[in-house]
Amino acid sequence: MSREQDIRRHYETRLSSDRANFDILDWASAESQRIRFAVLADNIDLHGKALLDVGCGLGDLYTFCRERGIEPEYTGVDLSEKMILAARRQNPAATFQCVDVFTDATLGAEQFDVVFCSGAFNLNLGNNRRFLLTALPRLVDLARGYAVFNLLHERTQYQEDGYFYCNPEDVLKMLRGLPCEPRLLDDYLPNDFTVICRKIRSGSG
Ligand SMILES: C[S@@+](CC[C@H](N)C(=O)[O-])C[C@H]1O[C@@H](n2cnc3c(N)ncnc32)[C@H](O)[C@@H]1O
Repeated sequence: MSREQDIRRHYETRLSSDRANFDILDWASAESQRIRFAVLADNIDLHGKALLDVGCGLGDLYTFCRERGIEPEYTGVDLSEKMILAARRQNPAATFQCVDVFTDATLGAEQFDVVFCSGAFNLNLGNNRRFLLTALPRLVDLARGYAVFNLLHERTQYQEDGYFYCNPEDVLKMLRGLPCEPRLLDDYLPNDFTVICRKIRSGSG
């Protein structure tokens, strides 16, 4: 089974009307899902910005922004068609597309002010490190201003099979040579870290 099929199968089997969104998306709680969104919103001005939410799930980031009075030009993408259909039902005013940005070149370089990716790297599919080496440059490429992503932290005390936990310093090394200045944030949850990559342009002073 391909990486994409594994991801679809994991999340689509959780889709059910009697489950809360955070549970469908396999977060421990609604609070932990929102804390990850807050790391983005507390550090980057999203108002009026073209925001791409990679692996958007049910579009909860869109809801979170509206509840905070922030109005980005939001686009959510997910590789699961079923997830995208459910996201559209819950957020009819938002834009959603079924796209795997890592294998599909439909979305062009620097098309978005801010690119955010929360939770899309959580599953252990056996080739995660190799995958990150191509996925992280793609996130940076899509962003004009900032690419922001989170990963499960290797310091997590009770690590569960099936999830991918990694070392932040290792991830920072993967970003070397890319046109961005990375900043690590790892003080908001015990089992997670976020990297905020500020895009830099060659030749700019
Ligand atoms: C843990 S959920 C997080 C959803 C959302 N970001 C949130 O925090 O509520 C991960 C989501 O990423 C999606 N995903 C994983 N890999 C992806 C990829 N390569 N392209 C698009 N979506 C992806 C999954 O289908 C799933 O909906």
